[in-house]
Order: sequence, then structure tokens, then C-alpha cells
Amino acid sequence: MKRLAVLLSGRGSNFLAIHEACATKELPAEVVCVVSNKPDARGIEKARELGVPAFGIDHKQFANRAAYEAEVIATLDRHAPDFVILAGYMRLLSPDFVARFRHRITNIHPSLLPSFPGVDAQRQAVEYGVKVSGCTVHLVDESLDGGPILVQRSVPVLDGDTPEELATRILGQEHGAYIEALRKLCGGYRVDGRRVIFD
Ligand code: GRF
Repeated sequence: MKRLAVLLSGRGSNFLAIHEACATKELPAEVVCVVSNKPDARGIEKARELGVPAFGIDHKQFANRAAYEAEVIATLDRHAPDFVILAGYMRLLSPDFVARFRHRITNIHPSLLPSFPGVDAQRQAVEYGVKVSGCTVHLVDESLDGGPILVQRSVPVLDGDTPEELATRILGQEHGAYIEALRKLCGGYRVDGRRVIFD
């Protein structure tokens, strides 16, 4: 059983899907804690309802990023995660944080990377006029949305789509993509440059 720590900032639908996949044994893992920089995040509320240890650590209460991250790391360490799962976590991680959990941090991004990294990926895709977008699950490195790719799933971008409509279509693929990526990681892997080789 792998131990998953989830970091989130918002509604937490990816967290819920991952939690459910653990409950049904689709994933040989358990969510050991949820941490949010937003103490009132919906995802934190959901975690508490499910009995998952949940911690709101408000980044605005800390003097700087290092102090905030030290508190997050101390909280994670108490739960000894094998993987740190970013699921709608809206803070950049420092290189020290990334090094601390090297090749063990995952993220989901709502575009087909390397297109449209950063915020508002769905709006970027609509404004650019691409015909296909999707989601990417990747390992986190020091770059912004640039680590080795684990899983991608695509969706069409339809004429007249609003960013919100595209976001909903992409979200429909996100949960399955994240679970697929985590199932593969739980089975063992190694990282060779930009490639992740699964056992
Ligand atoms: C998702 O669109 C994900 O791709 C992005 O943030 C959103 C999180 O959604 N990184 P949720 O909080 O998991 O519902």
C-alpha cells in the first residue's frame, strides 16, 4: 500500500476521485493526509467529512515561502507519504521542496503540455484556437508544469467553446488520467531524463 499526501487549494474533485479509487482498491494506496494553503478550501472540508487527516496551512500567515514550506514539509513528514499529489494546488513549489521529494511529486494540468503551462490553461487554449486540448499528469520538477509526463488524455475543442465549457470537458478526463498515472507509479518506475519507465 502506497501512502499518498494530497496538496490542494480548491474544490478537490481530483482528490475525491483518488480517494474513491483507493477505497475501491482500484489503486493500491491510501490518502494519508490532505494539506491546503487555503484553510477554507472545499477539498479540505471533503477530506474531513471522509475522515482523512486534513490541514489548512495558510501561506499568508508566514513571513516567506521557506517558512510556509517548512511547515508543510513538517506536516507531510508526520504522515510519511510515498507520493505527494498536487491536485489543484495553486502555489509554486521551491526547488528545495521538489528536491526533498524528488520524483515523488505529481501534478495534473488542464492542457496537453508543453502547450499552455501556467494559470488559465483552458482559456489559453480557447484563445489560441487549438482544436484539441486535454490534461497532463506529470512528475514535478523545478520548472513550471515541465516535469516528465506520465499520462495525457485529449478532448476536442469545439467551435464556440467558452473556457468554462472546455474546462468541464477536460475535467471529465482528469480523474481517470490521474488514477491511471498513480496506478502505474504504484507499480514501480524509474526516471530516465524526460521519460518515466514503468516496471
Ligand atoms: C483541475 O482542473 C486541475 O487540472 C488543475 O486544477 C483543477 C483542480 O480541480 N490543476 P479539483 O480541485 O481537483 O476539482
